[in-house]
Amino acid sequence: MNIILSIIYLISTITFVIGLKLLGHPETAKKGNLIAAIGMVVAIIGTLFLHDFEVPTINYVLIGAALLVGTVLGYIIAMKVAMTKMPELVSLFNGFGGGSALLIGLVEFSKNVGVDPALKPSAAITATILSAIAIGSITFTGSLVAWAKLNGSMKDVRLPKYNLINNVLFLALVAFASYITVVNTDSYLLVYILLFVSLIYGYLFVAPIGGADMPVVISLLNSLTGIAAAITGILYGNMVMLVGGILVGSAGLILTFVMCKAMNRSLSNVIFGAFGGDAAVAGATGKTGGSIKKTTASDSAVLLNYASKVVIVPGYGLAVAQAQHVIHELELLLTEKGVDVSYAIHPVAGRMPGHMNVLLAESNVDYDKLIEMDDINPQFPNTDVVLVVGANDVVNPAAHNDPSSPIYGMPILDVENAKHIIVNKRSMNAGYAGIENELFFNQKTSMLFGDAKSALTELVSELKNM
Ligand code: TAP
Repeated sequence: MNIILSIIYLISTITFVIGLKLLGHPETAKKGNLIAAIGMVVAIIGTLFLHDFEVPTINYVLIGAALLVGTVLGYIIAMKVAMTKMPELVSLFNGFGGGSALLIGLVEFSKNVGVDPALKPSAAITATILSAIAIGSITFTGSLVAWAKLNGSMKDVRLPKYNLINNVLFLALVAFASYITVVNTDSYLLVYILLFVSLIYGYLFVAPIGGADMPVVISLLNSLTGIAAAITGILYGNMVMLVGGILVGSAGLILTFVMCKAMNRSLSNVIFGAFGGDAAVAGATGKTGGSIKKTTASDSAVLLNYASKVVIVPGYGLAVAQAQHVIHELELLLTEKGVDVSYAIHPVAGRMPGHMNVLLAESNVDYDKLIEMDDINPQFPNTDVVLVVGANDVVNPAAHNDPSSPIYGMPILDVENAKHIIVNKRSMNAGYAGIENELFFNQKTSMLFGDAKSALTELVSELKNM
């Protein structure tokens, strides 16, 4: 390969590593994203103009048109997407990544068809091509199902004995792929069977997963996209694709384990287990009932004003209401009044990993004020007031108390241990897992109904008048 191209690939690879490192902190994430994107652009331009292509003529018009359409569409979508819709977009992009891998696999396979057996590629190359097709297909349909579920256009689908069906299908898929690898097939029919069974498996794998378990499957699909890209990198002997894929695959896998820990699930339970439980479908109610206590902005302001220690629990509703700026204003106001204020961050609050961190970073909340779940939980008994804003599942005690609940076993923020709890949401509607929350009926809880932005704005003005 051209030495200049090798150097370009090396530089691009380094930008991916630096980019990934910088993505690890909200303050540097934007810069990291930009650096990695520049590295990708350089790699694409270098490949287009410096690579020794097998085909004598390369169609720059077609490639240029595809790049232009992709860039314009990508720019418009990224500029328009609301923060709360980001996970859906990520799922869609994961699906496109899987789809590309499966198409590349098919193109590479077509080169083997009808080739003299003596000149055929090794079984290892066939295995790589078939893996790209199978993993790409699973990621493609799985990600589209995840996308449809996140935007609410698809409900959980659980066939009778779905777990058994999925596991048998998975083993059959592995056995079939191994067989056609060993015989080093050049049959389109066999490869299309592999493709369709993989597409179906991708659908069946994600379709039953429900309730609060989606974060794990999204990060797993993200990791699969990276693995699919790495496999295509092997196919083309392309270092940038390989390293980029490995980085996405391993970062996605690490995130999957972090999410598993947050949800208290093992990875084998994620892939082969009865995800979410039947209670999620039935809409388990948990032990709720009794009466709730409503409060007003002025009463809540009094409670906060005279507290020594306040913990704010942000959730998905804060992002929906785009109330990150006003919550920061409230925090600063209380701090000025001598109150010790911090934010309790649950790892799966919101709809994407790090959602609350990113949201609060947007309004320049001091990063040191964000306390992770394991560190804040022991502090709740000494907390005067917990202010829950648009969070629901992540503070639902059913995770501790109700074995029939779909979130049973998930670690939560133990806000019920605080002296007073104020919950701001618009109604008594359930959160993502679709279950009621006994916290709202707790003697110590007061419900401050209303959109987070208006309720917090009112709270701020009440506090200013005190
Ligand atoms: P949720 O349990 O989804 O609850 C959010 C609450 O916000 C709802 O009950 C809703 O009640 C309220 N809300 C919505 N809009 C509001 C507004 N404008 N103003 C005030 N409140 C509003 O959120 P959570 O506690 O953050 O938990 C996250 C859930 O999503 C978990 O189950 C998690 O597993 C799941 N999930 C997470 C991820 C990741 S990676 N973070 C990905 C997929 C799914 P009202 O309608 O009554 O207002």
